[in-house]
Amino acid sequence: MYIEHIDVIDSTNEELIRRARVGGMPQVLIATEQLAGRGRLGRTWVSNKGEGLYMSFLLRPEISVEKAPLISLIMGLAAHEAIKEATGIETKLKWPNDLVIDGKKVAGILASSEIKDGKPDFVVIGIGINMFHSEFPEEIAVTATSLKLAGGTFIREDLENSIVKSFNRYYDIFIREESFRAFMEEYNSLTVNVDRRVKVIEPGNEYEADSMGVNENGELMVRLDSKEIKCIRSGEVSVRGVYGYI
Ligand code: BTN
Repeated sequence: MYIEHIDVIDSTNEELIRRARVGGMPQVLIATEQLAGRGRLGRTWVSNKGEGLYMSFLLRPEISVEKAPLISLIMGLAAHEAIKEATGIETKLKWPNDLVIDGKKVAGILASSEIKDGKPDFVVIGIGINMFHSEFPEEIAVTATSLKLAGGTFIREDLENSIVKSFNRYYDIFIREESFRAFMEEYNSLTVNVDRRVKVIEPGNEYEADSMGVNENGELMVRLDSKEIKCIRSGEVSVRGVYGYI
């Protein structure tokens, strides 16, 4: 896949969405700095020059609309593998979109897609990795970390190349199988969302439950206090620990 580097952009995700809307072909876009980096749930993603990795993929997957959100989980698996390969650091996955080290967030994933004739026209999937930060603003200092703070010494280009390589490998399997089944076991072995008391935050609805891991549809299974098992789809949901971020 074509890999393009640029110095500065509002958001690599937004730029690829613009390109996709005018017929852009699959590619990777990496920026040194983002002026309006976007996070999940309408948040901003602070993207100072050179501190983080700001990278997005434009994809045109021939899959059903329901399967498109699984690409975020695939990116999580790929980023876990790539970070390990390039830095030696072992991350964990926090369903659906975060990578964590010792309970603190080191990377986040953001996907956008548009539908045409009942099929995904394109999917843009972006990842932001905290690489070289040596401190964070007070509001997020307790929940955020960087690869450098976690003791990693690595070369930025190696990490970029590893992410592209790992993502392509996982993505090809996913597209071939059209299913998350082949990844479920691996995901559950890497996620912090197994056997943990969590708070599920949906728009207008918040409740506690015991998380059990993901199923073959990539949904998080939780056991409610009534013992009923509920499968949660990603979308506008966030899952937090009862006492903190995980
Ligand atoms: C999150 O909220 O955890 C998701 C953060 C995603 C940030 C990345 S950085 C590259 C890409 N471009 C953006 O504007 N956002 C994503």
